[in-house]
Amino acid sequence: MKPRTDFISERLRQIKKANLYRRLVDNKISGPYITIQGKKLVNLSSNDYLGLDSRYHFSQIQSSSRLISGNDISFKKLEDSLAHHKSKSSALVFPTGYMANLGAISILAQKNDHILSDELNHASIIDACRLSHAKKTVYKHNDITDLEKKLRKKAKRKFVITEGIFSMNGDYARLDEITKLCQENNAFLLLDDAHGDFVAGRDGRGSADHFRVAKNVDVYISSLSKALGAFGGYIAAKKEIIDLAVNTSRPFIYTSALPGFLAELALKRFLSNRERKRLRLWKKIEQFSKGLKSIGYTIESQSQIIPIIIGDEKRTLEFGKYLRNNGIFAQPIRYPTVNLGSARIRISVTDWLSEDIISEALIVFEKAGKKFDAI
Ligand SMILES: Cc1ncc(COP(=O)(O)O)c(C=O)c1O
Repeated sequence: MKPRTDFISERLRQIKKANLYRRLVDNKISGPYITIQGKKLVNLSSNDYLGLDSRYHFSQIQSSSRLISGNDISFKKLEDSLAHHKSKSSALVFPTGYMANLGAISILAQKNDHILSDELNHASIIDACRLSHAKKTVYKHNDITDLEKKLRKKAKRKFVITEGIFSMNGDYARLDEITKLCQENNAFLLLDDAHGDFVAGRDGRGSADHFRVAKNVDVYISSLSKALGAFGGYIAAKKEIIDLAVNTSRPFIYTSALPGFLAELALKRFLSNRERKRLRLWKKIEQFSKGLKSIGYTIESQSQIIPIIIGDEKRTLEFGKYLRNNGIFAQPIRYPTVNLGSARIRISVTDWLSEDIISEALIVFEKAGKKFDAI
């Protein structure tokens, strides 16, 4: 059997042969100048047409794509750190997690390939699948038997994509079994870990690490805007895949770079002492979900995202309104974010919440549960 990534090397080889290969070059912009490899040059590659950025001494908005003059020196350190965090050789920052999904899936899955996507995957994954020319099949949520059956269908290459911790259910993808299936079927695994990253696994390495199967994930996609408390998105994978993204990923190439100061912020947050907060968060998750269960709610979440499924849309809105009138904001989530008839109150536990705040919130949830016959 040919190595699975042969097609990636072949595409890169063709790009190089046609003299179209691109490489990111670190730079620093200051007013009309750009410094590249220690040399100060006049910058004729900026879109900051009115010169407003430098005039306000706010010189870290690069006003350009990363392949033109937008590759602020702060990206490299951040990307090296993120690659190490995911035990991959490379990482690439995108302006948002949404774009990271679009950018990763569309460069890999091509015509005659087959993408298998969990039915509860986030809209950015669904949109990414739509952008790709591959055949798409949705498998039942976390249903290994259904995935196995669908993986048996013939295709040039197969890709499985799933969230790590599902954004509206708070459950983990069954990554121990999914990784096994992918190996048995020679399928690539792409993991959107926007909600598991920096929260789950040892040192917050993510949901695949939670199952100790991190090395079997081919491409990680994640957001810097959630647990890391910064902004942006990234992918982490072997160097060849990142190279292919730099050269062919339209949501990476044809948009302005994430501002350098946001890359710096993400690195600062990454290097901060997150572990103490992370461990404390899991205690609070336990307090909240145990509390809800003891009141009588059915809770199936395994994470900081705890949905209370109400079902009916109108009742869910009323439930949310009741919470709000009693000092709690927990967003009612309805179609099309979730299926019709499965509307829910989505609780998101954070380290901001003290034990006392959680206890008080639980009192309100108990009253609400009784009022709306939810317990
Ligand atoms: C599972 C998942 N993937 C991707 C994203 C997009 O991330 P970002 O907000 O960084 O664009 C989100 C955001 O809600 C998400 O929940």
